[in-house]
Amino acid sequence: MTFPKTETLPKTDARRSDVANTAVRYNIYGLVHKGLRAQMAQTLVVAGRTDWSDRDDANSALAEIRALAQSCRSHLQHENHFIHPAMEARQPGSANAAALDHHEHEQAIAGLLADCDRVERSALTERTPVAATLYSRLALFIAENFEHMAMEEVDHNAVLWRHYNDGEIHAIEQALVASIEPEKAMGSLRWMMTAATPTERAEKLRGMQQHAPAPVFMGVLTMLQPALRASDWRKLQIALQLPTVDERDPAELDAVSNQQRSARQQQQSASVAA
Ligand SMILES: [Fe+2]
Repeated sequence: MTFPKTETLPKTDARRSDVANTAVRYNIYGLVHKGLRAQMAQTLVVAGRTDWSDRDDANSALAEIRALAQSCRSHLQHENHFIHPAMEARQPGSANAAALDHHEHEQAIAGLLADCDRVERSALTERTPVAATLYSRLALFIAENFEHMAMEEVDHNAVLWRHYNDGEIHAIEQALVASIEPEKAMGSLRWMMTAATPTERAEKLRGMQQHAPAPVFMGVLTMLQPALRASDWRKLQIALQLPTVDERDPAELDAVSNQQRSARQQQQSASVAA
């Protein structure tokens, strides 16, 4: 693992105008990378403030770091299986650089998980230096991923947009999303939707409102409401023409409340299991 080379920085700067143009065509990386960046940033903050001599605090941080490692591993596998083959099919060699990055990221993820195990095995009183190594490795991993995602959003989108229309790019995304287990999809959706703008959030959920079974859509809203700022939730209610709380009948409110309780319990169980 290395810091970005000095000579790569001007290249990244020069890409800023390209990044700003991604709104012109469908950006298959847009929301998922926003969600991933949010999860990375949040996890780094947690790792940095953790009291590693406090067993509960340390366990909670380790669960978040392991969850991030799993998110990153799944994400790169999805790209390997769905996006890179589509690029290679129309422009051979176009996914080579990312494939190499992904190989290095797999090794970095294994290193992070090994560091988590080392922290867990060490005595509470001796954890500080072991946890400092974990924190440094996590920060470098995140820095490299931020560079990597920017590269994908510019270079990969250029290839996809050259060789596929937006309908075909949506079809690639649909195949990718269909391959994700529902529980993992929900976790990823939570990061994406809490990191998105109100307009992006409404657009994504409007599609789900139209096409997903009603109980699934209701489950998504139930999961999202407590995670969103009150102002963002209100904007979503308006955009999707959802009933306000006062307009819902008591039976529906009870059902929502039960679903929220169950979602919280599932989250807590998942954290403990992770
Ligand atoms: Fe990637």
